Order: sequence, then C-alpha cells, then structure tokens
Amino acid sequence: MSELLTLPTRPFADQRPGTSGLRKKVAVFRQPRYLENFVQSIFDSLTGFAGGTLVVGGDGRFHNDVAIQTIVRMAAANGFGRVLVGRAGILSTPAASCVVRARAAFGAVILSASHNPGGPDGDFGIKFNTANGGPAPEKITEAIWRRSERIERYLTIAHADIDLATIGITALGETTVEVFDPVAEYADLLAGLFDFPAMARLVQGGAFRMRFDAMHAVTGPYAEEIFVRRLGAPPKSVVAATPLADFGGGHPDPNPIYASELMAAMFAADAPDFGAASDGDGDRNMIVGRRFVVTPSDSLAVLAANAHLVPGYAKGLKGIARSMPTSRAADRVAAALGVACHETPTGWKFFANLLDAGLATICGEESAGTGSDHVREKDGVWAVLFWLNVLAARPGESVEAIVRDHWRRFGRDIYSRHDYEGIDAAAANALIADLRAQLATLPGRSFARGEGSSATVVGADDFAYTDPVDGSVTTQQGIRIVFDDDARIVFRLSGTGTEGATLRIYLERFEPDPAKQGVETQAALASLVAIADRIAGVRERTGRSAPSVMT
Ligand code: G1P
Ligand code: ZN
Repeated sequence: MSELLTLPTRPFADQRPGTSGLRKKVAVFRQPRYLENFVQSIFDSLTGFAGGTLVVGGDGRFHNDVAIQTIVRMAAANGFGRVLVGRAGILSTPAASCVVRARAAFGAVILSASHNPGGPDGDFGIKFNTANGGPAPEKITEAIWRRSERIERYLTIAHADIDLATIGITALGETTVEVFDPVAEYADLLAGLFDFPAMARLVQGGAFRMRFDAMHAVTGPYAEEIFVRRLGAPPKSVVAATPLADFGGGHPDPNPIYASELMAAMFAADAPDFGAASDGDGDRNMIVGRRFVVTPSDSLAVLAANAHLVPGYAKGLKGIARSMPTSRAADRVAAALGVACHETPTGWKFFANLLDAGLATICGEESAGTGSDHVREKDGVWAVLFWLNVLAARPGESVEAIVRDHWRRFGRDIYSRHDYEGIDAAAANALIADLRAQLATLPGRSFARGEGSSATVVGADDFAYTDPVDGSVTTQQGIRIVFDDDARIVFRLSGTGTEGATLRIYLERFEPDPAKQGVETQAALASLVAIADRIAGVRERTGRSAPSVMT
C-alpha cells in the first residue's frame, strides 16, 4: 500500500494564472511546495472528480519529467481513479485536448510555457483544461488563484517515480496510472478531417516539397507520424524533430524572427514550396510559402474562405471567431459566407464556449494560433494540414498565389504587431492607464498621416466582452482606437510574460485596391506607428526607440 500523506504548506503570493495558465521561471517552480501548492489549489477548486480520469503531459521542456511525477502522486492522493500520462511525459496541447475528449476525462493538467524559452534558466508553466478539452474558464482560474492564497496543506502519496518511458499500467494506491502513446489518437482524429489521399499524392509527387520545422519542441513526433509515415512525405521534410529540454537553445516561437532557419530555407534559391513551424507545445503555427510569409490573421481568413475544399469542413462553417487584436480579414470572409464573426478577448479560453455551443467552427488569433471545433485548443499541426489540403485542392497554385488571390477578392488587411518586451512594469501600466484616461477625448481628434492627409479617430474604447453563451463579462482587454479610414491601433499588455511587462501594439490598415496590395507591410504602417507614439508616448515611456519584435 502507498501511504497517503497530508503535508503542511504556506501560500505563495504570485500564483494568479495569466492568459494561458501559470507561467514563471523554472527557478520559481523549483522552489519547494511551489508546484504542489498550485496543483492542490487546482484540485481544491474542483468537485466531482473522485474516481474520474485526469490527463497529464507537457511539452517536454526542462523540469517536465520531475513535475509530472509530483502531479501523478498528487492526483492519486486526491482521489482520481485514473491518470493518463503521455509517454516520456510528452503531450502537445492540442493532443491533450483531443485525449480529454476521446477518453471522456475530467480534465487535463498540461505543463507548458508554450513558445517561451526552456532550460534551467528558462520558463515553465502549468494550466488546467476542463472536460470539454478547453482551457479552464476565468471563473475556475480565478478560484484556483484565490485558493492558492489560503492553502495550508497538500495531499500526496509515498510512492516511487513511475516509468514514463514505457507504455503500460501501474497501480498507485487505488489509482491506475496509464502511460499511453501521445500521438496515435490525435493523428487518427486529424486523418478523419482532411483528404489524406490527395495530400499524399501532393507530398509524394516529387514536384512539391515541404519543410516542417518542429523547433526541437513537442510536435516532432507528431509531425513524423503524420507527414512522413501517414502522408509519405520524404523524411527530410521534417526537421528539428527531436524534442529537447532546452529546445536546442532556441526560442520555440514560430515567427520570422525566431524560426530563422526555416526562413533561410524558404528564402533560399532552392526553397521548398511550403514551409511551416510550430511552437513549444504544438498549438501555434507559422505558414511560409516560397519567399512569402503568411500573416497569421490572413491565414485564418484564407483557411475559412477555403474550408469548402476540406472534407471535415465542406458542409459549411457555423461561424468564425477571432481574438480582438486579430485583423479583421476573417470578418470579411464571414460576411461573404453569411455567418457570424465573433470577437473575443485574447486567449483560447474564450473560444471554447463558442465552439461548444456550435456558434463557431474555426477560430484564430494574430499570435499564430488557429484551430477548429475538432478540439478545444489551437492546433499547429492541424493548421499545417489544412493548408496542405487547400494546396492539394488547388493544384498549381502557390501559397503566395492563394494569398494574393484572397486579397484581390476580399481586400488586404495590412497588419503587424510590435512588441516591447521586458519593459518596466510600472511604466507599462502607466501607459495603459493614461490611454484609458484619454478614451473620452480621442474621438474627433485628427492626426497627420504624411503627404497632406490625416486620420480622424472615430472610436476609442477599452475592449470588454460579454460571453454570448454564459453571460460572463471580461473587461479591460485592450485599448482600441479606430480611424475614419478603418485603420486601427490596439494597445495591450501581455498576460504570458515572466519578466517585467510586454507592451503589444497591434497596427492595421485596410487596402481594397489590388494595385496597391503589394506594399511592404512596415512601410505601409509607418504613419500609424507614428500616431501610436503620439497618442501613447511609447518611445518616451518604454525608453526604447524601436520594438523588440515585429511580427
Ligand atoms: C499570447 C498571445 C495570445 C495567446 C497567448 C497564449 O498572450 O498574444 O494570442 O493566446 O499568448 O499562446 P499574451 O502574451 O499577449 O497575453
Ligand atoms: Zn503554445
């Protein structure tokens, strides 16, 4: 028998989950009782799980294996009947969502700091997903935080570590622990959505070459199974496929800055036709054509506009959803399809209710997240497969040709996000507070845009969202400033960083004229950047002359 232990603890003051769970430096999570407190706070905030199933896994980053052993023992002590653990502790975020749904689990504990760097000096994170497979809604994450402020004890069990490397079943007291193949069920789910025979002909034909960069993060095993083994792409189509605890020293964020090897390959003379990458935990995606990067907001719109070509979506979309800072390209597609486009706060947790209620089929965010009602998380490999399916269904058309055709039909929402990372938190909060104070007086103000033209503010607010399904209200989700020519600037602070504050400025402008759609993005947005600086005093307050990252 394994001995049940009730151990005393004291609260930590910094356990409030952010946009996507609790994210801190590894050193913070390695403090004695830090992880235990948060996990016990999760369990104490939930009811009805006695005898139920908990899914546990993570993106394989440093500390993943140690944390999983702790969580498995605590799940057993807290009365779960079954704990399902991905082999080697590996489980991408979308695969965790898939398994929760497929096995009718109570929920999942997912260990990930997503696209943040890993290793002993890197970041670590933990989040809880509910029985629908989606991230816990705010009423649960806030309850977890409140519990963490009062916690006095946690439950665990005296038991040796379980063998995570081998598929099989172990008894832990009354609880069954099952180590399972983290890839198979997820790959089966995706195979049912897409036209794998047509996609296999495309990738095996020899005329078409693809390159998927797993960035030494969690998607390597998934990509090898799906692209190489099931679709038959040449093995060299998948690179950086071995998950590493420090992601090979890289920053597993699939954007043109951090996915520099993929960018080099896709801009080389002998570039493949199709390039893609995913992030630390496999929920983000980046799509690149030959010498052509697809902006995530455009990608969402293109997928929605081409969904009729994909078997799993051919019967039509119930609706589209995008986060507020995501460009309005998807709205134009929704209007053309005659379906609703929902605008939600940042973070995937807001999409789950819409998906559950059948109000949306496809969702996306400007931060390289796209997904659908097949799971309740964004899904990197899904997005790559969707693009491959569209390419197979539009033979002879390149990624670039498909995007340019889209712009001709719907207009182009020229878009960029400028991030000021690691700035002083007090200065960042003051910048947002001052913007809030200006909201009432901004409408009607005109700003010069160069060449004698000007733009007048027609709307300014702090985005608030009322969930159409459960009526819950979420406020202070970003400052929106809209101009008379439909240009838009959004300011918000990141909820996923672990150092100081990160200011995100989202800039966009609509260009309906095909003759002018070829403009370079940053040049086309330069006058808006200047207006953002005038309204918010960005350079002065951040002490920076330029953003750290522009995507
Ligand atoms: C960032 C992205 C957001 C995404 C989240 C989790 O959050 O902006 O779209 O849902 O990561 O991947 P933020 O740091 O902006 O709060
Ligand atoms: Zn992620």
